[in-house]
Amino acid sequence: MSSVPVMGISAGQFGVAEPDVPDVVREALRLPGLDMVGFHIHAASNNLNAGTQAAYLGWCVDWSAQTARACGIDLRHVDIGGGIGVAFQGEKPFDVARFGELAARTEPPAGVKIVLEPGRFLVADCGWYAAEVIDVKASYGEWFVVLRGGINHFQLPTCWDIVHNIAVLPVAPWPENCPRPTAEDRRVAVVGELCPPLTTYCCAMSGSTAYAPETSSSSPMRAPTAGSSPYTASSATQSLSDISSEAGAAR
Ligand SMILES: Cc1ncc(COP(=O)(O)O)c(C=O)c1O
Repeated sequence: MSSVPVMGISAGQFGVAEPDVPDVVREALRLPGLDMVGFHIHAASNNLNAGTQAAYLGWCVDWSAQTARACGIDLRHVDIGGGIGVAFQGEKPFDVARFGELAARTEPPAGVKIVLEPGRFLVADCGWYAAEVIDVKASYGEWFVVLRGGINHFQLPTCWDIVHNIAVLPVAPWPENCPRPTAEDRRVAVVGELCPPLTTYCCAMSGSTAYAPETSSSSPMRAPTAGSSPYTASSATQSLSDISSEAGAAR
């Protein structure tokens, strides 16, 4: 049993470009032992609008029905991939009830199973990113909170320019024999510790600014809604063997 993965309408490394689908299907239909049941599409991302997500669902169903008809596939399966977004600062969360109402109006062709594969929406709240604050400093009037971490741990905010909420956990003892660097009641840019300017500027939660009532060196800082950006997806230094042993541990 097989379905053709289709990833969208712009250049990318995943799936099959839409104009190439008929040729790929034609080849696939020639292969012995393969029962072509439908299409697997993933062409939406971080969408907070229930109306457009429902419209996307409808589009996937219509496109699949038309393409199956044109290519001679007995359509039984349409997977629309993920795409439901996660709300960050000031954004309105995805309205699941509204999406349900609208999605129920989509009538798939008889005998066709529709599959939704939300990813981030399901797991983002399951994890936090926590890192130690190793320095708090001012430069030309702007304040920076430097983490023992960054895109090598947590890449998504950089890739998607997300303004993450953060929380600073106060730690009272300050063993050093010098004044403790602290930013109080001011905007701060939270940055990672890696060296290249782009990396530093864009490190986890940097590039964005955060407001913290008081941030001191050695305080731990935590960012919620980090459950869909695992270490595996971020570490610049991680080797394939680390990934396979992580996968083994997860199993
Ligand atoms: C094929 C496929 N389905 C589903 C998902 C989940 O997408 P999202 O996290 O946007 O819901 C992805 C994410 O990359 C994907 O590649």
